[in-house]
Amino acid sequence: MIGTARWDAGGAACNASGVQRRPATVWKDRYKGDQPLPWDTGRVDQHLVTTLDAHGITGGKGLEIGCGTGTNSVWLAERGFEVTAVDVAAEAIEAARAKARARGVAERCSFFVLDFLEQAPEGAPFDLVFDRGVLHVFDEAADQARFAERIAAVLGEDGLWLSVIGSTEGPERDHGPPRRSMRDIANAIEPHLEIISLRGAQLDANTPTPPRAWVCLSRRRTVPAVPSTRRG
Ligand SMILES: C[S@@+](CC[C@H](N)C(=O)[O-])C[C@H]1O[C@@H](n2cnc3c(N)ncnc32)[C@H](O)[C@@H]1O
Repeated sequence: MIGTARWDAGGAACNASGVQRRPATVWKDRYKGDQPLPWDTGRVDQHLVTTLDAHGITGGKGLEIGCGTGTNSVWLAERGFEVTAVDVAAEAIEAARAKARARGVAERCSFFVLDFLEQAPEGAPFDLVFDRGVLHVFDEAADQARFAERIAAVLGEDGLWLSVIGSTEGPERDHGPPRRSMRDIANAIEPHLEIISLRGAQLDANTPTPPRAWVCLSRRRTVPAVPSTRRG
């Protein structure tokens, strides 16, 4: 369905550090409610497909964070991955499990209800970590950085993290995902992981016009990030 249904999950709550964050119940209510979910297209994310094709990746251990109703997790399992997929909303995980069963890949998929900022998923290290529209749900820079730090902790030696993120580019809109700038993304990721590529693209969504997005591919650091240098 194409519409202007609200993208985000609404209200915020404080975590233990006093940082504002949307509580799990708000996401659960979105999946329980009868409003359309603009992100839930039922189509595999083409940035995921082209990235894996470009790198010749046909399988391994994959982690999807914030998997929603599981479309991309199921596709990864069909491609040959052993998939671990987590989401903070139990209703989304139930739908994802049902989708995996219907497509005959339930044995290759392990779905867990889990808050990725608070709990580590089982099964690390992963060859591929994927999130579509999850890094961008965190308004606070500290949470965005924590998200990246926790990915660094579960990524294998040659592992890759692909993230699709709502962008500050594009005209004003009253629909679509939260907007994050290239600077927000670099600030969050660079201290923890090496950014291989960060490019502007579009997000496939049930919205009147396709919102702009960032597609960010990162890998584990072999050396810590070095501060900018100055001459003299
Ligand atoms: C915009 S939706 C995207 C869902 C899915 N990736 C897709 O593209 O259809 C964001 C998802 O992240 C989940 N989420 C939000 N915060 C999370 C957290 N801290 N840990 C795990 N999942 C989270 C939400 O429940 C929701 O399913």
